[in-house]
Amino acid sequence: MLLSPLPQGLAEGARLRELTLEDLPAVHALELKLFPQDAWPIDMFLAEVQHPSRGYLVLEVPGEGGYQLAGYAGLMSLGDTADVQTIAVVPDQEGKGYGRAMLTYLAQEASARGAEQILLEVRADNPRAQRLYTRNGYQQIHTRRGYYPGGVDALIMRAQLTPQNP
Ligand SMILES: CC(C)(COP(=O)(O)OP(=O)(O)OC[C@H]1O[C@@H](n2cnc3c(N)ncnc32)[C@H](O)[C@@H]1OP(=O)(O)O)[C@@H](O)C(=O)NCCC(=O)NCCS
Repeated sequence: MLLSPLPQGLAEGARLRELTLEDLPAVHALELKLFPQDAWPIDMFLAEVQHPSRGYLVLEVPGEGGYQLAGYAGLMSLGDTADVQTIAVVPDQEGKGYGRAMLTYLAQEASARGAEQILLEVRADNPRAQRLYTRNGYQQIHTRRGYYPGGVDALIMRAQLTPQNP
């Protein structure tokens, strides 16, 4: 369960809410589209979202017939270290600040769960995501050579978290 209040006031009436099991088929369909080379199997998603150390949210934008799924993000927080497990926004909703909003929220949630730092892995051939992370206080601390299928390197990035007042 997410501990931090979700942010309001996203661009164009979009909203963030906690992911539920009913969201999984649609989220997984997006995963296959957005991460064609290294999509998680649905079983892995199911195990992820049910684990108490995890926190997942979905991004929805208003559309015909109600809100439509436009992205998702997830966190693992164990002890003093958290990890951004995944973050994604559909291509036609990029550049509106949603990626940043989700990343900021994950950091807040990590702090609320007691983490002091947050890590993530990003493909070396994904400059857009790297820029998002750099602009939001992440620094590269390591390279895992050939980590992704096809031999693409993973950059490990880290941001320090501000402790939350009790
Ligand atoms: C990486 C990703 C999550 C970024 O999401 P996003 O919603 O486009 O991110 P943001 O809008 O917050 O920021 C992206 C850009 O939009 C700009 N922006 C932010 N708010 C904006 C707004 N309200 N209006 C217009 N532009 C805005 C930012 O300045 C930023 O510009 P820059 O990247 O050219 O410097 C998204 O591109 C994505 O899902 N990619 C595919 C999956 C992926 O690679 N995930 C990461 C795996 S590690």
